[in-house]
Amino acid sequence: MKIGIASDHAGYELKEYLKINLQKDGYEIIDYGPFLKKVVDYPDYAEKVAKGILNKEIEYGILICGTGIGMDIVANKFNGIRAARCCSTYDAFLARQHNDANVLTLGGRLIGKELALEIAKIFLSTPFSKGRHLKRVNKIKKIDNEKN
Ligand code: RB5
Repeated sequence: MKIGIASDHAGYELKEYLKINLQKDGYEIIDYGPFLKKVVDYPDYAEKVAKGILNKEIEYGILICGTGIGMDIVANKFNGIRAARCCSTYDAFLARQHNDANVLTLGGRLIGKELALEIAKIFLSTPFSKGRHLKRVNKIKKIDNEKN
């Protein structure tokens, strides 16, 4: 499974930590940058990962900024992206099970790196449950397709 990851300066250290540890777990991680800690604008990096999913280079994305909020706002502007900002493993579990989220956003200034890793692992390993949630996700997709 190919996973895209990106951050801004406030999420850079957590990006590096997650990348190394998810690779150890067997995930193929594509790093969309930045490649050194410098001040950057989170919309540029959210866009890279969103487009990576839409172009099918990657299946899921992980985006980290200071709060996870800016990345979440930008990623959700793209048709077909369902980004969820998760602060707990239960958020991550339900974002996948109920919402079929394809992007996880995290706040590098808000949560510890070990919790962030657990959240990412749960997010990446929980399947969409479909069932009663499928028609709701299909309604999200319909709204996406009606956007102009
Ligand atoms: C950068 O200072 C900060 O605004 C950014 O990382 C993020 O938290 C925005 O949502």
